[in-house]
Amino acid sequence: MIEPVSPAEVDARADEWRPDLLAALRGLYGLRGDDLCDVLEKRAREAAAQRAPEMVARDRERAVRPDWYLSNERVGYMAYADRFGGGTLDGLRDRIPHLVDLGVDVLHLLSLLTPRVGESDGGFAIRDYRSPDPRLGTPADLQQLIGALHDAGINLCVDFVLNHTSDDHEWTLAARAGSVYHRDLYITFPDRTLPDRYEATLPEVFPDLSPGNFTWIAELERWVWTTFRDFQWDLNWANPDVMIEVADLAFHLANLGVDVLRLDAIAFTWKRLGTNCQNQPEAHLVAQALRAALGIAAPATILLAEAIVGPDDLLGYLGRHELERRECELAYHNQLMVQGWSMLATREAALARVALSRLPDPPSRTTWFTYVRCHDDIGWAIDDPDATAVGVTGAGHREFLARFYRGDFPGSFARGTPFGINPTTNDERTSGMGATLAGMTAAVEAGDPAAVDAAIERLLLLYAIAFGYGGIPIIYMGDELCMVDDRGYLDDPLRHADSRWCHRPEFDESIAARAFVAGTAEQRLWDGIRALVTARRRCLPLHGATSSHPIDIGHPSVFAWHRRHPRFGELLGLANVGDGAATITPPSALGTRTSGLVDHLDPDANRLFQIAPRQVRWVAQPPGYAPIP
Ligand code: GLC
Ligand code: GLC
Repeated sequence: MIEPVSPAEVDARADEWRPDLLAALRGLYGLRGDDLCDVLEKRAREAAAQRAPEMVARDRERAVRPDWYLSNERVGYMAYADRFGGGTLDGLRDRIPHLVDLGVDVLHLLSLLTPRVGESDGGFAIRDYRSPDPRLGTPADLQQLIGALHDAGINLCVDFVLNHTSDDHEWTLAARAGSVYHRDLYITFPDRTLPDRYEATLPEVFPDLSPGNFTWIAELERWVWTTFRDFQWDLNWANPDVMIEVADLAFHLANLGVDVLRLDAIAFTWKRLGTNCQNQPEAHLVAQALRAALGIAAPATILLAEAIVGPDDLLGYLGRHELERRECELAYHNQLMVQGWSMLATREAALARVALSRLPDPPSRTTWFTYVRCHDDIGWAIDDPDATAVGVTGAGHREFLARFYRGDFPGSFARGTPFGINPTTNDERTSGMGATLAGMTAAVEAGDPAAVDAAIERLLLLYAIAFGYGGIPIIYMGDELCMVDDRGYLDDPLRHADSRWCHRPEFDESIAARAFVAGTAEQRLWDGIRALVTARRRCLPLHGATSSHPIDIGHPSVFAWHRRHPRFGELLGLANVGDGAATITPPSALGTRTSGLVDHLDPDANRLFQIAPRQVRWVAQPPGYAPIP
């Protein structure tokens, strides 16, 4: 029997979070912030009172284990709700054993809530945040699914699309019908004067699918701000009503049992004339206000920033500002992902070392979501100064990567598909499943077993970096089965123009079955990733409270990183991205303490500092060893 939440518990939370809430709201809304703080606190308390007993229990557990998401035991998985579950929430429940076998305990389900009718940007145009996609099941089915996930020890992460709603959301319908309250939840203009001035400095996220950032809506007789597709209306965060409405949605999702709210496109939430309207200081205040409000209502729920932004802008989303703030607990490590693919293409580690060394450490309460692939394209986020530091140019290297990964470069093993080509800026992004980008598709076409081996090793190499860098590693559905691109989207009028669909295949039981057939690519990936999960769980220095730092190990093809936790010891990561074996000298970072070290990925290895092509080592004290501080 779980005791209901007591007024004293909620009072204590309000005392803890009110100063943060007030500061964020004053920063956003000036003097109105004080009244708004009272309103939000009241709503948060109401939400706290409505929390189900199991969620109250989760709040209490996490109050005494606040670092649960930093643990080296966490392993994530991301999948489309419909494409993973065979189209229903019940089908998703049937996939729980697959996740449990893999060792996953954080599940990011994409496209779970009711999307726009017709095209919906893969579910990122939401019509109703309060119910699951009716094609998948009912709210009761969702509740059952969440219960089953929690029973299996799996935390649920859901997209919280807070920069925009779909153009058929009830607020847009009311706005079209003449409600000024609802119109003002969005950013609208009577004519082109301001839109033209904003456009002068605004980039385009989907230059080909949806050029420009504004859409004329006849019923409103106004231009509506639409950063992404023309059917995604940007919310007007300068209007405090948006804060109240959206916070209510956050409470609703948290009370359903969502453990991680993924703040979709958080960087875009605040607009300022003369800027690119990303990463404005107020976008951080939006996240901080939501963090604080949830801290009162539903403290078990944490925030993940989806901020695919440059290194200088990224750490703010984890609360690193001039004065540290509590903001999001997690953020995507986009740089590590991009640099991993860049290393595979160049077989050199220097650029990754320079770029990743420049990134400040996350605050110790926060950590990364580390990943190899996700549902989005890869934007080749190579910074100009980093490129210059290793003797290439940013533009040249970005162009090289786009060409290499579309398979249009001598010696390329990749068969990716271009995405979001911008003729004005010459920018080109890349779509493709990890296996296709790592060489599997080309190797199978060529019928070349050695190339198949190399492709498998490349994909596992990137996963071994993602699993060993610290933070929660995320497996993208299909990678554990070496799934390649799905060209089916080309025949679907609703999807054919968006090449991201090539890397959003449907889970296929017959492919999954091959994970248990010795010698198949499926089996090698499945066992390879499971081995990473097991090794990570036993490798205490991977606890996320401290950061990894790249080091120069004196070999051009070996990417090396070092991390040290004052209680859990240190770890030296070594990834040989080259095609030849590499021998290195133990780095001074380890001092003289090289005796007794083992490779957690190959515990029997005795020549720790010899590394085969595409091999990764995690060199540390043996499993379970925790030095006395
Ligand atoms: C996020 C999603 C992406 C979507 C965009 C607009 O970046 O990851 O898939 O297109 O937001 O919602
Ligand atoms: C850009 C945006 C990201 C969006 C993606 C869509 O990377 O920063 O928010 O989801 O494009 O492809």
